[in-house]
Amino acid sequence: MISKSTIDQVYETARLEEVIGDFVQLKKSGSNFKGLSPFSDERTPSFMVSPVKQIWKDFSSGKGGNVVAFLMEHEHFTYPEAIKYLAKKYNIEVEETERTDEQKKEANERESMYLVSEYAQDYFAKMLWESELGKAIGLTYFKERGFTDETITKFGLGYCLDQWDGFTKAALESGYQLTYLEKTGLTIVKEDASNAEGSKKFDRFKGRVMFPIHSMSGRVLGFGGRILTNNKKAAKYLNSPESDIYHKSKVLYGIYFAKQAIAKEDTCYLVEGYTDVIQFYQRGIHNVVSSSGTALTPEQIRLINRLTKNITVLFDGDAAGLRASLRGIDLILEQGMNVKVCAFPDGEDPDSFSKNNELEEVLNYLRSNSKDFIQFKAGLLAEEAADDPIKRADTVRDIVNSIAKIPDAIKREIYVQECAQIMNVSEGVLFSTLAQIGKKNQTDANKRAQPEQKAFDVVKNEVKVEKVDVQYELERKIIEMLLLYGKEQQEFEDLVLKENEEGELILEPESLHIKVYEKIYLDLQEDEIELTNAQFKAVYLKLIEALNEKEDFSVSTFLSDLNQDMVSEISGILMEEEKYVLHNWERKDIYPKEKKTVIAQLVSETILTLRCFLIKKRMLALQKHTENSHEDNKETLEEIMNYLQLNNLLNKKLNRVLS
Ligand code: CTP
Ligand code: MN
Repeated sequence: MISKSTIDQVYETARLEEVIGDFVQLKKSGSNFKGLSPFSDERTPSFMVSPVKQIWKDFSSGKGGNVVAFLMEHEHFTYPEAIKYLAKKYNIEVEETERTDEQKKEANERESMYLVSEYAQDYFAKMLWESELGKAIGLTYFKERGFTDETITKFGLGYCLDQWDGFTKAALESGYQLTYLEKTGLTIVKEDASNAEGSKKFDRFKGRVMFPIHSMSGRVLGFGGRILTNNKKAAKYLNSPESDIYHKSKVLYGIYFAKQAIAKEDTCYLVEGYTDVIQFYQRGIHNVVSSSGTALTPEQIRLINRLTKNITVLFDGDAAGLRASLRGIDLILEQGMNVKVCAFPDGEDPDSFSKNNELEEVLNYLRSNSKDFIQFKAGLLAEEAADDPIKRADTVRDIVNSIAKIPDAIKREIYVQECAQIMNVSEGVLFSTLAQIGKKNQTDANKRAQPEQKAFDVVKNEVKVEKVDVQYELERKIIEMLLLYGKEQQEFEDLVLKENEEGELILEPESLHIKVYEKIYLDLQEDEIELTNAQFKAVYLKLIEALNEKEDFSVSTFLSDLNQDMVSEISGILMEEEKYVLHNWERKDIYPKEKKTVIAQLVSETILTLRCFLIKKRMLALQKHTENSHEDNKETLEEIMNYLQLNNLLNKKLNRVLS
């Protein structure tokens, strides 16, 4: 774990506008900066950065947050990766907190494996570019394949000399330990009694050109090595073995170079091999990854799913592998992604096709030959089973199986209609088959249907946008005030019940000097109000705690401890004013309120309104209760009376605040 003090130091030092400025062109706009959204294609800027608040908001995608959230969104870093990136940028030493010896050992081992892999990448590249044999054999090979110097450098390609242990020796001499060379599979160690040292060491990739495989964040995890001779016995490609840092099923070749383009283009091309990725990239299509010759795994799909919902699977010209690959695609459907497929002309693969055609031609080909997966499969199967009734029945089942994997009910229905046409069967048949399969998978489907349900809810809310959710707005306002003015000392006036000389209870104004957050906390505490919105409630508790504990409360640091949903919501709240500026609402005669001048009043007003609102709600509920029950309601009625009194009192206070 990175120590808290390092994290704090990173937040104190990092300037949001500088960090974002490395990725987005920002222009000054009042006290803020604005630019084109890096998360969508747009021509008018809706991306705002506030140097004062150290938060950003992208009004076109709804994303927003602090400096770390930006790096996580844009670079797809994990939290620690983002902190480390910033520490590096600002020359801050990263201090790790104490871990158990076991944890330390594991982390050290993995780190050592990363380091040795990085060394290997550099070493193989050096051999490729600088050694005579490397240049003559490896570099010549890559050039023949049509790779430019720039491409070869970008992908970190290299060459492992055709010697038994050239690399291993060099690594050992540079101080890397044999254990890690062995654990990463770069060196093969064989016991040998005749040898004085007791073992023999070989370079695994002897005589091969090297393709380093990178993680999402760019670390070297392993290698693919291609043989250059036509040796029928040796595998064409040799890959690093599974290890603590390299899990074949969890990486996609090229993801590090493609991630930004995938998110931006909102689609991903999936190809079969290393050279397909590289050739596509060089041609100018950057949103491309490869599963390196194996069937796609759910983990790999999830990597893509973080970046886009749309995937196009590209096939080589030969139809042989095609049928087999179709099965794997159901996995992609299952994760709710939209799948297209595109087959290349006979004898061509994405590598050769993009090598031999200009970018415009390749893009055109992809555009006109990409077919929706289900339609494609239905067409293919229908063709095969055209004159064979028994086969046709199987085919129907096969297609419906694919359709059943789709989590979205509406999409399923559309596909049934389309496939009925393509396969020339009635929709009824397909629907009833779907229902049969559906029943079998019901529990699964239920689980998957939940996010979908949520999406519908959102749509519903948008439709009845007229009807404002008062309680939601008030609770949101409370959070906003805590965030913006929490620490500010204000003079609040309150009406307090006092006894006068005649012994009557009267309301007397009393002035109170406290901080905004104290006022809010005390008032809500008074009638045991809890915020109802779960997110607001969680933020509220954290905010009160942070405001209470920290002398120098900063919104940006506070955001760092929250989950992404909350961060988006909160940066939305904080950027409300900027939104007005952004849309030039002034011109439409809508002026955002000048908030700062009337903080105390605003705070009191909001709390009182919320309290009245909740009390009324409570009274209504109690009233309903008495209407529905035939028992003795004395206690409930008493409770209602108490609330009524409280409500009157609060209303008096509210009137006073408002006047
Ligand atoms: N592959 C592998 N081991 C093999 C053969 C293939 O790991 N023995 C993987 C590699 O990732 C390769 C991919 O499967 O890139 C696709 O295989 P293939 O189509 O045979 O290779 P190409 O990428 O076309 O390689 P090349 O053009 O260099 O022949
Ligand atoms: Mn090829």
